Amino acid sequence: MRRTLSVLALGALTFLVLPASCLRPGRPIVPTSVPPAAPAPHDGAVASAEPVATETGLAILRNGGDAADAAVAVALALAVVHPQAGNLGGGGFAVIKRGEMVAALDFRETAPRSATESMYLDKEGEPIEDAATVGPLAAGVPGSPDGLFVLHQRYGRLPWRDVVSPALRLAREGFTVTPRLREALESYQETLARFPETAKVWLPDGAPPRAGTLLRLPELAATLEAYMKHGPDALKGGTAAAAIETASRAHGGVLTAADLAAYRPVWREPLRFSGFGWNVASMPLPSSGGLIVAQSLAMLERVRFDERPAGSADRDHLLVETWRRAFADRFLLGDPAHTRAGPGQLLSVDWIARRAADIDEAKATPSSQVSPWPGERLPQAAGAMKPAATTHLSIADGTGMVVSMTTTLNEWFGCGLYVAGAGFFLNDEMDDFVTAPGQPNLYGLVQGEANAVRPGARMLSSMSPVVAWRDGETVALGSRGGSRIPTATLQVLLNLIVNGDQLQQAVDRPRIHHQWLPDEIVAETDALSPGILADLQRRGHRVRTTGGLGEVIAVRVRPDGRCEAAADNRRNPGGAGVLAAGP
Ligand code: DON
Repeated sequence: MRRTLSVLALGALTFLVLPASCLRPGRPIVPTSVPPAAPAPHDGAVASAEPVATETGLAILRNGGDAADAAVAVALALAVVHPQAGNLGGGGFAVIKRGEMVAALDFRETAPRSATESMYLDKEGEPIEDAATVGPLAAGVPGSPDGLFVLHQRYGRLPWRDVVSPALRLAREGFTVTPRLREALESYQETLARFPETAKVWLPDGAPPRAGTLLRLPELAATLEAYMKHGPDALKGGTAAAAIETASRAHGGVLTAADLAAYRPVWREPLRFSGFGWNVASMPLPSSGGLIVAQSLAMLERVRFDERPAGSADRDHLLVETWRRAFADRFLLGDPAHTRAGPGQLLSVDWIARRAADIDEAKATPSSQVSPWPGERLPQAAGAMKPAATTHLSIADGTGMVVSMTTTLNEWFGCGLYVAGAGFFLNDEMDDFVTAPGQPNLYGLVQGEANAVRPGARMLSSMSPVVAWRDGETVALGSRGGSRIPTATLQVLLNLIVNGDQLQQAVDRPRIHHQWLPDEIVAETDALSPGILADLQRRGHRVRTTGGLGEVIAVRVRPDGRCEAAADNRRNPGGAGVLAAGP
């Protein structure tokens, strides 16, 4: 039975549709005539999950490309060398800032046209095991091919060919399998082996290629070449689209070539807010991530987070209590066309004041007492997360532009199906919808009616690409990690803007997490000293320790134009690079 939302505390909430405009990429692709950038007044910086992809971005900047060119080139390079998360078969979000201009691009996947609310349930209404995560029934309509293209069309300077060709070269000439890729393949081997077309490429002789192997991906190279020549239409029609439909049908999916052809990315008004003297922009719906960061910052200001000692139990307690409330509101959210609330309500001064006033500084508020769900029996959310696959990249160029972009297949290698004839994995993003009412998803998130599966709708996300700026200084950052994305991103942002950390230090500091349900703090093993742990437990918090929370990837431009880049040492040392403008 679908849970109905009790709106005692939020009775005044109104239906909100965010302004949006659709862009249809044109064709054929002609090289743009914009000349290369003038000599850079700034350094440039690129941070991503893979050193090879970062190098690709730096080369683009060196050759006169701007941050948009580099972001597209890095995202495409990640689609080759980091296939567990980089993608053409998934989607993502980007926030772009240049001078006063701030833009937000939504290339989130959509539900196929024949998707239904009950497509992941059996006749008894019980969830069918793995249906929303493994195999093409789990796949949303990919948004990356259109998204990367329109980003380049609007903000790129180099010819399209120049930003696609580095990835094409990597796929055609080969790249070295990293230990990280080998490990990811090993841990997902069982799923990958279920699809012969996947196994053929990724489990040759029954096992993943060894680290150090030179791997060529000719089918992906052919797709990238077509993409370079014809733009996204090369993937949304013709043989690639037919190959996707055939592979999907063969394994019980419902994705069709018509779904691919109908996909549109959307330029949205970025969510803009401020905190501790900084201006911040992030993604609006269909991501909940920006709203969670914005609500948390606003509550933390009210409860004077910055006046508590850094590294204190007081600060941890306040973080947890704000997240508990922000994640409770997430229950109302979904595709902007169906959501029960939006920034107008959830960021209103009244609502934030009410939420902040409700925080008890000495005691944890049980999540069962936090609306918007009063009186409901709360389902128990799953504890451990499966390994999952999203990847963030942050770029600053010499022209003052920054791009903060997060793309995802959802789980590592998406739904596990590598499409023969197209050469890429399809996502399993449908699991981000409510696939079984009242049940937590992969990330333990319990979600509401607004996020039900509806044909053409975008599934609610937690991805939070952020850009923050003040007095000539700009930071771009974001993370992977499902529900942990906004909390990891916010902690790094606070480390920078409240503590005044160096960028790498801000990224590397241990982190904690709370998401309303399950009602527990998840803490990295070195995040809480015995004294702080005991203090939090005394206040009534349940605490569980875990491995790394998120993978934050960030760049910063200083007022004098110097740049810094930081990849997350928990996961991927070596993914950050800086290009110096002068001696
Ligand atoms: O959009 C979302 O919120 C999720 N699909 C993100 C998944 C994710 O971050 C997995 N990462 N490691």
